[in-house]
Amino acid sequence: MNTGILDVSGLTEETQRRAQTLRDPEAMTIVEEAMENIRRAAAVIKRGGLVAFPTETVYGIGANVFDEEAAGRVYEAKGRPSDNPMIVHIARASDISKLSKKLSPDIVKLADAFWPGPLTMVMEKSEDVPARVTGGLQTVGIRLPDNPVAIELIRLAGTPVAAPSANISGSPSPTRAEHVIADLNGKVDIILAGEVCKVGIESTVVDMTVSPPAVLRPGIITKDDIEAELGHGGDGWGHSGDGSFCVRSATQKEPSPLCRTEPSPLCPKSPGMKYTHYAPKAAMLVVEGGREKVRAEAARLKAMNEALGLKVGVLLFEEADYVKAAHDFYAVLRDMDDSGMDMIIAGALPGTDGVSFAVMNRMMKAAGYNIVRV
Ligand code: TXA
Ligand code: MG
Repeated sequence: MNTGILDVSGLTEETQRRAQTLRDPEAMTIVEEAMENIRRAAAVIKRGGLVAFPTETVYGIGANVFDEEAAGRVYEAKGRPSDNPMIVHIARASDISKLSKKLSPDIVKLADAFWPGPLTMVMEKSEDVPARVTGGLQTVGIRLPDNPVAIELIRLAGTPVAAPSANISGSPSPTRAEHVIADLNGKVDIILAGEVCKVGIESTVVDMTVSPPAVLRPGIITKDDIEAELGHGGDGWGHSGDGSFCVRSATQKEPSPLCRTEPSPLCPKSPGMKYTHYAPKAAMLVVEGGREKVRAEAARLKAMNEALGLKVGVLLFEEADYVKAAHDFYAVLRDMDDSGMDMIIAGALPGTDGVSFAVMNRMMKAAGYNIVRV
């Protein structure tokens, strides 16, 4: 397939503001050029094609949610098992009604608080949503992304857009246009090449069909952020799909060790959790412990493996800047692969902060849970 790579990097919140409110002629031209490319991409979605596009979290591969064949082609392009449900993206909150007939007060609260933004809410699906999109589940994950290219694309396509992350299944999620081009050139109709994704890790996925809602995949919107909006403090939190979140009650502030169980392989709550994800080509090892000890151990392991003739990269994020760690994480993995590393030694982030917990969730998966403690 011939993939059209179209530049939309001119459409940012800043140029949009300058064009719309200040009527700045230069910004208006830049925005109009990007909009022309987005119109072409929207027409492709309308006729059943695939478009890779930027969101604030990671790039996605989009198809018309109501077109089952197109959804099937998304699985093919990614090389992804078809029982892994896709997140459906909308351009305004009221479009939930096209996908789900059950709107609870909690869904409205979280939509008000966090949309547009990196939060996916899983709710009961309406009959119109094909089972192919939801991997056979009776629920659908919905999100309103905070990115002007994504919003204009969905709006102009005139339909909600089903979109998993725009990587080949199993490789790190793409946060820059060049990552998408590396993975999907020749496999989709159009790649909208936009800005670097500002968040850098995928959205928080929260299951709204259980009470209290349960976080299925951590992200930069943390369970404390959600809890604060819902005011469910006393009810505690449900189990997540990968066992990484724990029931919390008003009296029990620490996670219960009982919660550290494996998900049932037969019935994972969030099916995406059962596949190997995010893995770089290099072998990866996480080192956990005090900062100085981690630094020393990483240097020791690097020297030892280099003596064996391996190329070794060390990944130590700035202390306490977890938002930046999230922003850079996938891109660093890809950069290390591109520079031919055989092995990546990564320092664990302390798991107390919600955002560092979300990054650690990806880091542990990327490393295949390969960890040493010092
Ligand atoms: O930030 C994001 O969420 C990105 C951008 C493109 O929006 N998308 C993304 O999609 O990460 P994907 O397909 O790579 O991951 C979707 C996750 C999977 O873990 C999947 O199992 C879960 O969301 N999910 C989707 N629909 C679900 C449902 N109905 N029930 C439970 N989990 C669901
Ligand atoms: Mg993904």
